[in-house]
Amino acid sequence: MKNLLITGGAGFIGSHVVRLFVNKYSNYKIINLDLLTYAGNLENIKDIENADNYKFVKGDICDAEFILELFQKENITDVIHLAAESHVDRSISDPFSFVKTNVFGTVTLLNAAAKCWKKNLSNHIFYHVSTDEVYGSLGEEGFFLESTPYDPQSPYSASKASSDHFVRAWANTYNLQVKISNCSNNYGPNQFPEKLLPLMINNIKNNKPLPVYGQGENIRDWLFVVDHARAIDDIFHMGNIGETYNVGGFNEWKNIDIVKLLCTLMDKKLGRPEGESAKLITYVTDRAGHDHRYAIDASKIKNELGWEPSLQFEEGMKKTVDWYLEHPNWLEHVTSGQYKDYYKKTYLVK
Ligand code: NAD
Ligand code: DAU
Repeated sequence: MKNLLITGGAGFIGSHVVRLFVNKYSNYKIINLDLLTYAGNLENIKDIENADNYKFVKGDICDAEFILELFQKENITDVIHLAAESHVDRSISDPFSFVKTNVFGTVTLLNAAAKCWKKNLSNHIFYHVSTDEVYGSLGEEGFFLESTPYDPQSPYSASKASSDHFVRAWANTYNLQVKISNCSNNYGPNQFPEKLLPLMINNIKNNKPLPVYGQGENIRDWLFVVDHARAIDDIFHMGNIGETYNVGGFNEWKNIDIVKLLCTLMDKKLGRPEGESAKLITYVTDRAGHDHRYAIDASKIKNELGWEPSLQFEEGMKKTVDWYLEHPNWLEHVTSGQYKDYYKKTYLVK
């Protein structure tokens, strides 16, 4: 029996992790803690909200008193920590909110865990979900390994690198049993349409310009979100204490190529003449300090835990495009901000 606290479970990746754990582990109680910032949307997990082993709590990981009370009240036994500010462009215009949530928030959770678990530390796991961006930017060659030195380049990646360091410091100083994973770019259903792929899908659908930063030559390594959730499950249950696991798709794409692929897929889906959507591609000013290339070497998780991506990329992209086209209300609600009403209706009026 575990009382597992999952933070950020109303966000993109968190919602897929919560769903997987609620459905797979009926003997665990899953407590989903989320502040419901602009990125948190309970519509993402509507399908499991009435499950017996699930509870949603609205709250801030930076509120130390509230977090300590939550640990005590719910007798939290383990943590999978995903809550964060996650968008690089926002970190450039508002770096302090990234320091607050990603660094201060993580330390607040670590502190509560170490206090509440100190009598039997070996029975508890604190799992921190991080990003490949902590390793910095690659040239044309090479891959990020777990041993690659940290070299974060944006306020977002610096805040995530900092939070990783704090997690390791709590392991070293307070003997907390920790695990960390650093994953590459995720794609799939429920991603907020400020990120590349859902933004492009939404704009293609609405015949709006497709803003490609710089020349579109930057490279990302794409992984279907459900495969990331599977990796988190494997690491939580089978990963070694104190270890880091890199998670990636073995799937590198230049931005411009992935946008063109989307245009082709969507021309077919929307019944447009071939080449029609690609006319919307517009090259815009580059992101400040734009990392050139990310590429993960995910051999460790493959060799030690047997995890590998289950979906071919083309299949994952088709599923993703279908999901956004089949959920026009979801897209409309998130772009209009209407999804905030869902919380009020579901949790306050009951
Ligand atoms: P997201 O922005 O979609 O979701 C973040 C969630 O955290 C939201 O539900 C938000 O409401 C919640 N949150 C924010 N501040 C909070 C606070 N103070 N207290 C409680 N909840 C708060 O993010 P995502 O893309 O799902 O990423 C989840 C995690 O995975 C992040 O830690 C991110 O760094 C990491 N990650 C993301 C990717 C990716 O491609 N998206 C890749 C690797 C790692
Ligand atoms: O690598 C993992 C990271 O991937 C996660 O840690 C982050 O939380 C997640 O947001 C993502 O970061 P990126 O900056 O790589 O993702 P984004 O979708 O913002 O951008 C992907 C690439 O596309 C990047 O090179 C910038 C470019 N881009 C992005 C947008 C939003 C464009 O060219 N145009 C755009 O409009």
